[in-house]
Amino acid sequence: MSSTVEIIKSKVTAIFAHDTTGHDWFHIERVLKMAEYLQSKEGGDLEIIQLAALLHDISDHKMNGGKLNAGGQVALELLSDLNYDSAKSQLVKEIVDGVSYKGAHVQDALKTLEGKIVQDADRLDAIGAIGVARAFAYGGSKNRPMYIPNLTPTMHASFEEYASSKSHTINHFYEKLLLLEARLHTETAKQIGKERHTFMEQFLEQFYNEWNSKLN
Ligand code: ADP
Ligand code: NI
Repeated sequence: MSSTVEIIKSKVTAIFAHDTTGHDWFHIERVLKMAEYLQSKEGGDLEIIQLAALLHDISDHKMNGGKLNAGGQVALELLSDLNYDSAKSQLVKEIVDGVSYKGAHVQDALKTLEGKIVQDADRLDAIGAIGVARAFAYGGSKNRPMYIPNLTPTMHASFEEYASSKSHTINHFYEKLLLLEARLHTETAKQIGKERHTFMEQFLEQFYNEWNSKLN
């Protein structure tokens, strides 16, 4: 790991240490490890991938009071404080700015291999058992109800609409989580994503069965 990656890692560890909304340091660490694994199978510039994975949630709109594209600038400033190569910093900034999901009908695919790998790693951590846990942790932190049967999901057409949605957490599965598998880029991520996607479908089936069970 290069010294720039080491320094950014210790700064990010401190910043995310106390989060309880599903964006804690362990999320960043899982994304970093997954991105490194994907890079080992798919290629791409390891240092850019590590920096973008570490910085991808640095100023997320869900945590910064609603500013939609602030993260890239914060990442750029942290890297320029370390006199990091400016062309590489720009590539990291573009990944941080573009990584987030923005709604069912909003195109969000990143263009570079490094971007695709970080986006895949972030999305794999939003699905499967950890994805289920993070969704309810996040929903609880925003005072969202777990489920309201008559409130159906919305397929959002803009980032603003998606970001301001205040629905219950089960809807989030239809508005985002179940749509992520089809948006994975790399073959390695698609293989991992398949099992995690199936697990969420099974979770929902079990959830509705328990919700609707008529005892005696
Ligand atoms: P993204 O940048 O694509 O939004 P993040 O890494 O920032 O991804 O993680 C977002 C996490 O927050 C996910 O695990 C996701 O399930 C959760 N989350 C975001 N919006 C909601 C919501 N409306 N309800 C429940 N969970 C949510
Ligand atoms: Ni993330």
